Order: sequence, then C-alpha cells, then structure tokens
Amino acid sequence: MNPESAVVELAEPYLRGLLASAGLDVEYVRGEGNTLYRRDANGRETPVLDYAGGYGSLIFGHNNPEIVARARELLDGSVPVHAQFSAHPYATRLAAELNRIIHRELGVDEPYYATFANSGAEAIEAAVKHAELDRVLRQGEALEELAGGTERARAAVADGSATVPDAVYAHLGTARPAGDPLAPVIEEITRRNGERAAREPVFLALEGGFHGKLMGSVQLTHNEAYRTPFAALGVRARFVPRGSAEALERVRAEERGVLLGLDVDNGEVRVVEREHPVFGAFLLEPVQGEGGIQPLSDQDARIIQEFADAHDCPLVIDEIQSGLGRTGSLLASSQMGLRGDYFALAKSLGGGLAKASVMLVRETRYRAQFELVHSSTFAKDAFSCHIALKVLEMLDRDGGRAFRQATERGTALQTMLEKVRTSFPDVVKEVRGRGLMLGFEFHDQSEAEHPAIREAAGGGLFGYVIAGHLLNRHSIRTFPTASAVNTLRFEPSVLLTDEEIGRLEEALTDVCVILREQAGERLVLS
Ligand code: F0G
Repeated sequence: MNPESAVVELAEPYLRGLLASAGLDVEYVRGEGNTLYRRDANGRETPVLDYAGGYGSLIFGHNNPEIVARARELLDGSVPVHAQFSAHPYATRLAAELNRIIHRELGVDEPYYATFANSGAEAIEAAVKHAELDRVLRQGEALEELAGGTERARAAVADGSATVPDAVYAHLGTARPAGDPLAPVIEEITRRNGERAAREPVFLALEGGFHGKLMGSVQLTHNEAYRTPFAALGVRARFVPRGSAEALERVRAEERGVLLGLDVDNGEVRVVEREHPVFGAFLLEPVQGEGGIQPLSDQDARIIQEFADAHDCPLVIDEIQSGLGRTGSLLASSQMGLRGDYFALAKSLGGGLAKASVMLVRETRYRAQFELVHSSTFAKDAFSCHIALKVLEMLDRDGGRAFRQATERGTALQTMLEKVRTSFPDVVKEVRGRGLMLGFEFHDQSEAEHPAIREAAGGGLFGYVIAGHLLNRHSIRTFPTASAVNTLRFEPSVLLTDEEIGRLEEALTDVCVILREQAGERLVLS
C-alpha cells in the first residue's frame, strides 16, 4: 500500500477532492528548470513540463542551480537568518538594487523606500496601510491648516478688524445669531468637518483584478466569491472598468467632498474649502493575472495615470505577478508609461526558494513613522534578501540578458499559441498577454454537444478538466486562471526551449481537435 494513502487527508481535503476529480492531485517529488517529476503508480519518476511556473514565482525555473548554490552557501556559512532589529546591509543593498533598476526603467531619480514582507498579499496590505496612514496624516494637516485660518477669523472678528458677511451664513445654511457672529458658523464647520473626516476611505480597484486573499487585500480582489463573505472585515473598495475615464469621474463625483475653514479677506470673513482626501489609493495590475491574463492598454494606463495625477490619488501598482522580468522588464508598468506611488513585488523575488515580498513607496509619499507601526517577525530576513539579490543580479547581468530572453521566449510562445488559435478559431477565442505571461482563452463550452464537456463548463470546471487532460495525456502542467476558467495561463521560466514550446503545441492541438470534434470521451483525467 502507498504509505501516504493510509493517512487521513486533513490538509484541505475538499480542495484535494476537487483536484482529484480532474486527475490533478498528483505528487511531485522533484523539480528542475521547467520540469517537475511526478511519482507514477510504480514509484517511478515521470517528467512533467511545468507551464504553471509556481503561479509566476519561478522566473528562473525550479531549483535554479545558481540560486540553489547561493542558498547552500548561505546555509553552509551559518548566515543568521533571523536577526531582527539589527543593521541589515543585505536589505539595504536589495532596496538600492531595486531602486537602481526602477530608476532606469522609469527614467526618474526619486527614491522608493522599501518595506519587506513575506507574501504578495502582505505587500499589498503594507501599501494599503501606508497609503491610509498618509491619507489620515494629510487629512490632519489640511484640518490643522483650516483651523489656523478659522482662528485668525475669530480673532479678527473679536478685535473688530473683520466682519461676517451674509454670504458666510448662506454658504453654511445657518442664520446670523444675536450674539457671537461666528459661533454658529464655527459649530457648523466643526460638525461638517467631523462628519467628513470620519468617512471611511475609498480604495479604487479594477474589475477583474486580484490583489490577494487576506482580510484587507481580498476586499480589493474583484471576484465576489472570494470577497463578499468577508466584506464586513475589510476596507471599502469601488471597482471600476478598464479604459473608462467617465466611470472614474462618476465614482469621484459620488465620493468627493470638502473640508471647511474660515479666513479673512479684505476685512471680511470668508469660507474656504479644501478637497477632502477620501481616496486611499488606486490599485491595479499592469497585466491582470488571476483575472484571465488581461494586459492594460496604453490608453487604459493613461486614463488611470491622469486620474491619479489630477486628484492626488496614490497609485499602487501590483507587480506581484507581472514584475521581476516576466514581461521583459522589472516592472511591466514601466512599458505602459505608468508611474507608481507604490509598487508591490513578490513571487519570483524569492527565486523559487524563499518567501519574500516588498512594498516600495516613493519619497514624496513616504511617511517614516510607518516603520514603527508595521512589521513581521519573518520579513527582511537575511536568507530571502540574499536570494532576492541573487535574482536581481541574474536578471540584470550582461546588460539585462534575462529581460531580453523573457521577451524573446515570450514572443516565441505567443507565436505558437496564435498559430493554434488561427487553426482552431471555432475553439480558441483569444491569445493574450505579454512576455512570459500568456493566456489562451477557449470559447464558452456550456452549450457543448458532448455531455462531459458541457457539464464541466456548466460547473465552472472546464479549464481544470482541460488541465487534467494536458497533465494526464501530455505530461504538461498548467491551470486556468481562477477567476476566468476558460483561460489557460502559461508562465514558464526564461529557460523555455523551442522543444518545450513544440510539446505544448502538440498538446493544445490535441485539445482543440477533441473540442472541435466534441470527443469528450477522449479526455484523459487520470
Ligand atoms: N497580487 C497579484 C497580482 C497576484 O497574482 C497574487 C497572487 C497576489 C497579489 C497575492 O499574492 O498569493 O503571495 O499572497 N496570485 C496567485 C494567482 C494566487 O493565482 O495568480 P500571494
């Protein structure tokens, strides 16, 4: 008996059952490059070509020898992994390296300060928390400045150097009192400012976006199934479609408001207004990953950037999946003319061995006190920082050869996917993506002739069934994007060979023939 089968599954048994239904619950025992080895029924290792690439965390493949050698060196050298609250030159170097490359890509020299974390969702939450701290402080600064003016007005009225015109009462909807002419005015301003300042911040995010599944970040993730049960726990988000300046303007008109104060102008008191900073941030992925591999167009990017600039709304650019070379640059957004106030990086930052993420915030937004209120036991540890430094070195060496390789290999892969689409336009709807972040979308099969195909599509499992066939029939591993299950995603490493592309072509062609011929009985799911 397989000793593993004797153990009751208590580690997410339901999920395991779902995977089993499409023959995806295999055990991988070894990985190198783009290959994972599964154990077959006879205990032998069988190679599987891995296009899932650790959900985008393996830009240099499984157990890249150079990264593994660096890890060995660190462990053999007894590097103190957990030395919290000490000087941390490796983190300093990592932040500097990230800045060097980001400055080059964005053509700016403003520093980005780094806060380290352990997972993608954590980096997003760090950015959201920082943005909220900054918003609360900006709001406080605005209120303080307004209060200063109100105090000047009060003093001027008291010493007779200013009067209160009717317009002030009209503006605030109060009546001129018999006594102190400013008493009801200041009371009304205080009430309105209090009400305004107590409003929850609004975070904008794109429809189809994915930013993690923690309590805060899941509210910024569009998929309702993930989000709505936990709505009471998190931040208030408003989702906007890509490419619609009008939609953004509508949301702004609904949410905006002003903070009030008084000032003296030519011996008369007047009401002054400051825009209330109600928007915490605008979150976006340059290429949506989990939502179906949807790149922003240059026009989409321009609309977002213009909105952010016009309304002082910080941009949090989630490069967790698209960053670190996957689309041919450290930041996919740098190819779209986007300038983040914040960037979040994770996944490949850990080189496939460490769990590491980082939130970067530009100096003009940076609030030093954040460092005292946000931390994690495990963040900024020596092991993950040293590994991340190795990843950056490998990306940037030889004039950025790995970046160019991602672009070139991505083009080769995309060309093949397009070729399959052209041969099967009745089956394949679209090929999308950039670099080594590609999606292959099938036409909806919920009305398919073959019952197995139709039922899989009806149950939202179509992509998983296709993934099961690719694995069990062709030894190719990939998955649909979880929120768009008709789209398979391909995120191999930069080591991708023409032979590997050829194997995928053969396998996808087989899938397309099965779907065209509605030969569901030919699907191999175990
Ligand atoms: N942001 C993006 C763009 C992501 O793709 C992910 C994870 C996260 C944040 C959260 O990162 O899992 O480390 O907390 N995406 C995976 C996916 C799960 O399906 O692409 P995490």
